[in-house]
Amino acid sequence: MAPEALLVGRGSDEAIDLLVRSFCRAGEDAVLTLTPTFGMYALAARIQGAQLLGVPLRASAGFALDANAVLARCTPAVKLVFLCSPNNPTGNLLSEAAILAIADALSARALVVVDEAYIEFAAATASRNRYGGGRSSRCCARCPRPTGSPAPAAAR
Ligand SMILES: Cc1ncc(COP(=O)(O)O)c(C=O)c1O
Repeated sequence: MAPEALLVGRGSDEAIDLLVRSFCRAGEDAVLTLTPTFGMYALAARIQGAQLLGVPLRASAGFALDANAVLARCTPAVKLVFLCSPNNPTGNLLSEAAILAIADALSARALVVVDEAYIEFAAATASRNRYGGGRSSRCCARCPRPTGSPAPAAAR
């Protein structure tokens, strides 16, 4: 990964906050998240005065990511889509095909942020090289937790 593509911060909460402050105008733009998911996305949106839109993850579907549901909920105001994989607190990985479908559909419209804070605890490898690839809507591949730091119960 190119050095200019990296942001080094004090934990990934800071990166989430900076993304919302950088891409969302107060009172105009919106953030889209899955529910339930890590609460920092909603908090950062609230601090910035951005609208928060949610797409439910259904237990009956194994909390799977539904790309069509996300795209249907995306208004022109949505500038950031946060996808957490493995998701906190449900612990499941999101389908890479669904993530890429969302990123492709939102290309040049919104930034898709994939938070992989708990990827070390999952049967998957980090996706930064797969999502990076220069497509304008894909971003931020990961917010790794240092080895040894606790994972949420659901991700263990
Ligand atoms: C999914 C997820 N992303 C990011 C963070 C923030 O991590 P950090 O401690 O690096 O700020 C957490 C913390 O619990 C988290 O659960």
